[in-house]
Amino acid sequence: MILIVTANSRLGNATARQLLENGRSVRGLVRSQEKGADLAALGAEIVIGDLRDPESLRRACAGVTAVVAAAHALLGGWGNKSSAVDEKGHCDLIDAAKAAGVEHFIYTSGLDVDPNHPVPFLRHKAAVEQYLQRSGLDYTIIRPSAFMETHAHQLIGQPLLEKGKVSILGQGDSPRNFVAVPDVARLIAHVLDNPQAKGEIIEIGAPGNYTNNQVAQLYAQAIGQEVKIGNVPRPMVRILSAVMWPFQPGLSQVMRWALHTDSHDASFDPAPTLQQYPIEMKSLETFVAEQVNS
Ligand SMILES: NC(=O)c1ccc[n+]([C@@H]2O[C@H](COP(=O)([O-])OP(=O)(O)OC[C@H]3O[C@@H](n4cnc5c(N)ncnc54)[C@H](OP(=O)(O)O)[C@@H]3O)[C@@H](O)[C@H]2O)c1
Repeated sequence: MILIVTANSRLGNATARQLLENGRSVRGLVRSQEKGADLAALGAEIVIGDLRDPESLRRACAGVTAVVAAAHALLGGWGNKSSAVDEKGHCDLIDAAKAAGVEHFIYTSGLDVDPNHPVPFLRHKAAVEQYLQRSGLDYTIIRPSAFMETHAHQLIGQPLLEKGKVSILGQGDSPRNFVAVPDVARLIAHVLDNPQAKGEIIEIGAPGNYTNNQVAQLYAQAIGQEVKIGNVPRPMVRILSAVMWPFQPGLSQVMRWALHTDSHDASFDPAPTLQQYPIEMKSLETFVAEQVNS
C-alpha cells in the first residue's frame, strides 16, 4: 500500500492515477472526503488528514510500505501557515512514517531549494530534505523544475487564451526549466519499483529551457492571433511583495520568488537523469500545442 500526501494536489493526483494504472494499491490522504472522490472511484482508499495534525498522519501511515509526500501550503496564508505545513508538518509525516515502519519515503522537493534561499518556502523545503536524510528512513528526494501546468499554463497561457493578454512579473528574460506533471508522476512510479533509487536525490525537468517571455511567445504563436504581453517592472514587484506580506504572505512569497527567478539563470539539463531513468518527457512546445487545441 502506497500513501500519497496529498492525493488531490496536481502531482499527488497524477501519481495516484499512475500507480493505480500500474496495479498498485493506493491510499490517498486528503483534507475532505470530496477531494478524494475521483480517486475513490478508481479504487483508491481515501483517508482524511492534515499535515498540521500529527495523529491523522500516524493513522494514515499505518500499514503502508511507501509514502509519497506531494503537498505544500505556499499560498496557505496565516490560516494554513507554510511553516506549519511545509516544514513542521512534513517532519511530522517523516516521524509518522518511521514509527509505522515505512520502507521508502519519497519527498517532492524542488530544483531551487536552498537552506539560504531568500524565500522562506524554499528554506522550509531544504530543512525537510535534511530532516529526511537524517531520519534513518530509506528515502528518495525528487526535485522537479517548474510544473508546466502551473507556471507555463496557469500563470501565462491561460490569461492569454482567456483574455488575450498577460502580465509577466519582472523582465521575463531569464531562462528556466519546465516539466509536465504526469512525467514527474511516472518518474515517481519508476522510483517506487527501483530499490536502487533509495538514498538518491533526483533532479528532473524536460529538455530545453525557456524564459517566461518565450513561453508567452509560444502561446501567442499557437493561438495565431494578436495578444498583449506586458512586464511588471521589478521595483513594482518588490513593492507589491512588501505591501502584501501582512495580508497575503503566500502571494508575497510568490512575488519574491518570481523576482529571484527573474534575475537568475535557472537553466537545467535533464540528460544525466534521463540516462538513468529513461522516461520520455513532454516538451514545452507539445504541451502548449495541447493546451491551445484542447
Ligand atoms: N507547482 C510546481 O511548479 C512545483 C515544482 C516543483 C515541485 N513542486 C512540489 O510538488 C509538490 C506538489 O505540488 P503541486 O503543485 O502538485 O501542489 P498543488 O496542486 O498546488 O496542491 C497543494 C496540495 O497541498 C495540500 N495542502 C495544503 N495545506 C495542507 C495541509 N495543511 N495538510 C495537508 N495537505 C495540505 C492541498 O490540499 P487542499 O486542496 O485541501 O488545500 C493540495 O492538495 C509540492 O511538494 C511542491 O512543492 C511543485
